[in-house]
Amino acid sequence: MKRDKKTSIDYSRLPKHIAIIMDGNGRWGQKRGLPRLVGHKAGIETIRDIIKTSSDIGIQYITVYAFSTENWKRPEDEVKGLFSLLLLYLEKEIDEIHNNNVRLSIIGEYKKLPDGVVKKIDYALNRTKNNTGMVFNIALNYGGRDEILRMARNIYLMTKNNEIENVDEIDYNLIESLLYTEGIPDPDLIIRTSGELRLSNFLLWQTAYSEFWSTDTLWPDFRKEDLFEAIKVYQNRNRRYGGIKNGGK
Ligand code: IPE
Ligand code: IPE
Ligand code: MG
Repeated sequence: MKRDKKTSIDYSRLPKHIAIIMDGNGRWGQKRGLPRLVGHKAGIETIRDIIKTSSDIGIQYITVYAFSTENWKRPEDEVKGLFSLLLLYLEKEIDEIHNNNVRLSIIGEYKKLPDGVVKKIDYALNRTKNNTGMVFNIALNYGGRDEILRMARNIYLMTKNNEIENVDEIDYNLIESLLYTEGIPDPDLIIRTSGELRLSNFLLWQTAYSEFWSTDTLWPDFRKEDLFEAIKVYQNRNRRYGGIKNGGK
């Protein structure tokens, strides 16, 4: 066991995939009497830090929930502001991401975002596609129900085109190959900031056996020490997957 004295983390048993519901940006701004967008801007600084830390300690996959299919309900100014911030983030950070051997990945219908953002994303995906380090997965215009609906429609089309001939061919593997997360292992640990205890349509299929950890800290105030705390708690959980601890022995 390689337990780090300072962080108490066992680096030989890190979660392979951490997924984060970054929440509380708006409240962070409002608490200071500032616009919600100031909170989103501060939240981007946190993403930068957490991505660097995760990559440094050897996390293999990190997913961040950046924009849900329901977030379109927000005032137009906020939605536009979020996309501008995303564009700026990609412009500023892509070199650093690439230099750290991190591979960018997107889940969700990001092609429905403004053209400039789509172009920047495609450029970043292409630029980092051969990197072999951590996978940094951003959920953009992502919804778990949307993802499942899309999969079901694809199965209908495959059946119609005789690509599926027998009902037994529809199995977990086929379903997973038709989700946005194809090739990405299920998250081991879900972190949600700002004290909310719900999934908000995040990774509905993939979180069947994920461990959940929530903190009252708002996303812009989340620091690497909070990430270490989440990992520490995760490492003390007993994952049973419906079975019995240690096979009942
Ligand atoms: C999370 O912060 C970021 C996005 C959903 C884009 P919120 O904007 O949801 O912040 P609160 O929950 O309103 O404080
Ligand atoms: C979830 O946060 C979506 C993202 C973090 C992108 P929300 O703030 O949209 O979720 P609800 O509305 O509180 O459930
Ligand atoms: Mg919120």
